[in-house]
Amino acid sequence: MPVHQANNLWILETRQTAYAFGLTPAGLLVHSYWGIRLRDLDDYPRPQDVPPYASWSGPAHLSPEEYPAYAGVKYTEPCLKATFSDGVRDTVLSYRGGQVMPGQPDTLRILLQEAYYPLQVALYYRVYPAHDLIERWVEVTNGGQAPVTLERVWSALWHLPWGGGYRLSHLWGRWFEEWQLCREPLQPGVKVKESRRLTTSHSANPWFALDRGAADEGQGEVWFGVLAWSGNWKMAAEVTETGATRLGIGINDWDFAWRLNPGETFATPPSLAGYTTGGFGAASRHLHDYVRDHLPHGKRLHPVLYNSWEAVFFDVDEASQAAVAERAAQMGVELFVMDDGWFHRRDGDHAGLGDWWPDRQKFPRGLQPLIQRINDLGMDFGLWIEPEMVNPDSELYRAHPDWVIHFPTRQRTEMRNELILNMARPDVQAYLLEKLDALLRNHNIAFIKWDMNRNVSEPGWADAPGDPRELWVRYVQGVYRLWETLARRHPHVLWQSCSGGGGRVDFGLLRVADQFWVSDNTEATARLGIQEGFSQFMPAITMEAQVTHMGDPLMPLPFRFHVSMMGTLGISANLLTWRPEELRLGAEMVALYKEIRPVVQLGDQYRLLPAQGRPFTATQYMSKDRAEGVLFAFRTHMPEPARIPPIYLRGLEPAADYVVDGFEGVRSGLAWMNTGLPLNLKNGASTLRRIRRVG
Ligand code: GLA
Repeated sequence: MPVHQANNLWILETRQTAYAFGLTPAGLLVHSYWGIRLRDLDDYPRPQDVPPYASWSGPAHLSPEEYPAYAGVKYTEPCLKATFSDGVRDTVLSYRGGQVMPGQPDTLRILLQEAYYPLQVALYYRVYPAHDLIERWVEVTNGGQAPVTLERVWSALWHLPWGGGYRLSHLWGRWFEEWQLCREPLQPGVKVKESRRLTTSHSANPWFALDRGAADEGQGEVWFGVLAWSGNWKMAAEVTETGATRLGIGINDWDFAWRLNPGETFATPPSLAGYTTGGFGAASRHLHDYVRDHLPHGKRLHPVLYNSWEAVFFDVDEASQAAVAERAAQMGVELFVMDDGWFHRRDGDHAGLGDWWPDRQKFPRGLQPLIQRINDLGMDFGLWIEPEMVNPDSELYRAHPDWVIHFPTRQRTEMRNELILNMARPDVQAYLLEKLDALLRNHNIAFIKWDMNRNVSEPGWADAPGDPRELWVRYVQGVYRLWETLARRHPHVLWQSCSGGGGRVDFGLLRVADQFWVSDNTEATARLGIQEGFSQFMPAITMEAQVTHMGDPLMPLPFRFHVSMMGTLGISANLLTWRPEELRLGAEMVALYKEIRPVVQLGDQYRLLPAQGRPFTATQYMSKDRAEGVLFAFRTHMPEPARIPPIYLRGLEPAADYVVDGFEGVRSGLAWMNTGLPLNLKNGASTLRRIRRVG
């Protein structure tokens, strides 16, 4: 049983970790433990009351409250902030009971009740014993007769073991340069990371890792987690004046309000977190395993794809795509994706978004003949859409100018000539459902790339039924609803989430999306760092990585392939201009990728020599049964005669025998892992070495 209760103490145990909280003698619900799993249940510490600090701070301010609401003498970051209909802005929660959910032995619900008003707060905990992860979310229910306005309602507050000196790892960046890793010591005060962009954002991501400054890829205590949400989010890592460290995470309270009417419940998205002693590498692998086990289409291998974008941009038509498709098929591509440019009047980014039917000039016979040709060549067909956007120059916008997010008295700021459809509106959802459902019903489409190419401005919703600031949440719920309905109706379709590259990558989308477009930057050396940052929380199977012509200087073709073979391989280049030897090399690389694909997509990933900030890098993937592995190493540019450092393999069975491509002899796993491999790479060179168990 993963959930234990003893004398007002709740203990959640995974295979290797434990998390405990309970009631103090005075009745405060406080956190008491998060770390390695202990031998006996009696070993877990019991919550204690803390005396007030003179007249300045109450006990709750000084205690690691499990889910603090704003109330009383308490100034640390609360999880809940509400205003009652009579103007009272103080929420006093007290424990009313807890139970393991009937039929769900891994899920615990703790009920809290407001002292005066009929407001109930249910804290949910789900334990994933095999993944060593714990998931938390919250449901707030208004049992009264008058509405309550919620102004902050976070998913979780994660308390770290007492003692300062923590270091926060987080991801930052911007369009074309996503997934940059930053590690910084936490100082007294609050460090905030957030998105106010309506989407998850390129600039930050709701992933965190906390350590005491000494963890590395291979060892050390790390507390890590994510928020499963695709809209505005906030994460606040706080070091209090008494040296307690905690991290609150949830929907962003910036410009947020939610009118909770009588009888209604507001449910937060979940936050998933874990603890490991195996360093940042193990933290990533825990999340990778969880993601793979929760992909909408399960652990099936993802296909090698071709994508038209970097090849011809908007210039797609039946004849040219059919010609490229022949070359792609010869190269071993399994899925042919036609990107932007295929729909009504879409000759550039100035028109067409919203009118989701094939352009008659480019596809006079519709899409079906091209799809048939592609299927005849043995490939599946995929298509690009950007449902949430509309160009003012479109039939949809001319018919429904009021459907976009806007303030009536403000200019509607266009970005990439786009405005954003208000996905909170049921009529917008219904229109898109009808159009996209017809597209999927009438064509043999196996894959959809769902794009979203701008961020919000003038976030107005004139005829909102509730508080217009509910837009931030209802928009995301609308996207989920539409996407889930389409996915349910067309269960064979594989979905990719894209937002101008990595603008919307998060665990919330795992309900629908199997893979992500990580960055519009496909220049191979930049990509090394970008892909590595992405791997902090997402596994290679979800990472679409394409070989393109981007780069000046252009890296050698094998280098570009090797970079892309570290994820779900794709090619986005005009194959009609490739020379015969390039086509031959491409075919060889695709064939090799198909051999190593189970290891890359389903195995364990080890960042052996991290890429960011370095002119060399090495990454290894190892099958779960430890029988097969693959090592990738890259050198970008170092002054001669410098050499890249020796590479220590990881994840091998110590006592088993292995051979490694390009190295003499059969050696034990222990030997390969403890004696560094010298790799003599030149500038601009890469290598792929297979690792095989032979005894
Ligand atoms: C975005 C995507 C690209 C491509 C274009 C098409 O920028 O990130 O991959 O699909 O849109 O307009």
